[in-house]
Amino acid sequence: MSNLPYIVGNWKMNGTRSMLSEARAIDRSTQRFPGVQVAIAPPFTLINAMREASQMIGVGGQDCHVEASGAFTGDISAPMLRDAGADFVILGHSERRALHGETDELIRDKAEAAQAAGLGVIVCVGETDGERDAGNAESVVSAQLDGSLPRGENGADKLSVAYEPVWAIGTGRVASTDDISAMHSIIRGKLKDVYGEAGDEIRILYGGSVKGENAPEILAIDEVGGALVGGASLSAESFLSIVGAAA
Ligand code: G3P
Repeated sequence: MSNLPYIVGNWKMNGTRSMLSEARAIDRSTQRFPGVQVAIAPPFTLINAMREASQMIGVGGQDCHVEASGAFTGDISAPMLRDAGADFVILGHSERRALHGETDELIRDKAEAAQAAGLGVIVCVGETDGERDAGNAESVVSAQLDGSLPRGENGADKLSVAYEPVWAIGTGRVASTDDISAMHSIIRGKLKDVYGEAGDEIRILYGGSVKGENAPEILAIDEVGGALVGGASLSAESFLSIVGAAA
C-alpha cells in the first residue's frame, strides 16, 4: 500500500469531453510531483477516455453497484468500472447517502464488491452540521465506519477513508485544524480496531472546501494522508496548486 500523499479530484456530475484537456494538463504536470499520488474520479462517461488520455494519474468511479451484472437499469458494476480502465471507486459520498438513500450496509457491500473486482476503494464518512452542533460528530462517524468499512479477508487492501464533514462540502467553510486532527485520530483508532496493524497504513483523506490556499495547512495535520477535492479539482490550475502543496 502506498504511503504517498493521495490527492483525489471528485468531479461529481461535471465534465464532458471538452474537460479532458484539464485532465491531460493535470496528468502532464503530475510528473513534476513524483512524491504525490494523484487521481481523478470523473463521471462514468469520461472514465475510459480519461484513462486513455493520461498516463500518470489514477482514474476512478464515483459509485458502483453491488452486483457484477443484471437487470439494474442505469447502474454500473465494479467489473464494468475495471473494464473501462478505472483503478478505484469512491463509495458512500454524503451526496449519495443523502440523495440516493445509501445505507452503511449497502456501502459496505459495494466496497466488498469493488475490492473483489480489483478496485481501490475510498469510503467517505462525515457528520452534518446538526449532528456536530448536537455533539454527535464522533458517534456518527464511528457508526458510519462500523457499518460501511469492507470486512472481507483483504478489507484493508487499497482502502482509503475520506472524512468529509457535510457542512464543509462546497460551502467554503473548512473544519478547523483541531477538529480535523481530532476526527482523523478517532478514525485511525477505529481502523486499527477493525484491521489491526494494517489499519495503520490506510490513508485518511480530508475533504470539504479544500483549495490551494488552505491545502498546506490541512495537509500538514498529523493523520491527514491526502485530500478529496470537489470544486477545486475541475481546473488544472487550482487542482495542481493542491497537488503542489502535498509535494
Ligand atoms: O468529494 C469531494 C467533496 O465532497 C468536497 O467538495 O467542492 O467542497 O471540495 P468541495
